[in-house]
Amino acid sequence: WGKDGHYAVCKIAEAYLTEDALVTVKELLPDSAGGELASVCSWADDIKWYYKWHWTSPLHYVDTPDFKCNYQYCRDCHDSAGHKDSCVTGAIFNYTKQHFSAYQGYDPQLKYNLTEALMFLAHFVGDVHQPLHVGFTGDLGGNTITVRWYHRKTNLHHVWDTMIIDSAVKTFYGSDLAIMIQTIQRNITDAWSNDISSWEYCEYNQTVCPNLYASESVRLACTFAYRNATPGSTLEDDYFLSRLPIVEKRLAQGGIRLAAVLNRIFASEVKIA
Ligand code: ADE
Ligand code: ZN
Ligand code: ZN
Repeated sequence: WGKDGHYAVCKIAEAYLTEDALVTVKELLPDSAGGELASVCSWADDIKWYYKWHWTSPLHYVDTPDFKCNYQYCRDCHDSAGHKDSCVTGAIFNYTKQHFSAYQGYDPQLKYNLTEALMFLAHFVGDVHQPLHVGFTGDLGGNTITVRWYHRKTNLHHVWDTMIIDSAVKTFYGSDLAIMIQTIQRNITDAWSNDISSWEYCEYNQTVCPNLYASESVRLACTFAYRNATPGSTLEDDYFLSRLPIVEKRLAQGGIRLAAVLNRIFASEVKIA
């Protein structure tokens, strides 16, 4: 996602944090956040261009072999040089584990920067819900598929990161992202209210289940993102109006699941202490 997508995911998550999680999250946030998780949810994108942080670039996505509409951790979670676990699902497991191990009795600051771990986790749980962050290797998740979005030349990945949300904000929400977020929040309490507990659920009592989120994403990439978006095509109302509901639901799921994982991580702290 672009800035607005990440902001929306984290705003939605904030509203579902338990009291315990909210207290710990606020302690971990950098001063620059002003106590608001959503304000640092794009940090991982801002830093990836710096030399020091180059190694984090492959952590934003995981691609599948061309035209395979399924995802497998062992097959797919590696960077372009073949290093294992260097992908978005690997990163979500890793940063979740860092938080957990930090509370097993020793001083977390000796080993991990938990402020960074929180900002990475919040960002990557958002990214794994963007269908084309689990796209095909050959087109870099739609980045090399040139399309027109109405009259503008862009690429398919950017359409899903930014343009659909941007057009929705302008067309339906009076150019105010906050109104779009409120509308998604209302859907969560109305239309999707019966689905929330299944979104939060992870098999085998796991803290987080990024493999499930990635499997959903690549299926949506095949059925909605890549479909009717061949190189050189023009995407307009038909595509926009049929894909917007998918984008809104993925932002909602990202937010609910981010809150669920933070609630589990920071509840365990209380039990151990
Ligand atoms: N680079 C390669 N694959 C990518 C993807 N799926 N998303 C973003 N950047 C990528
Ligand atoms: Zn992206
Ligand atoms: Zn990202």
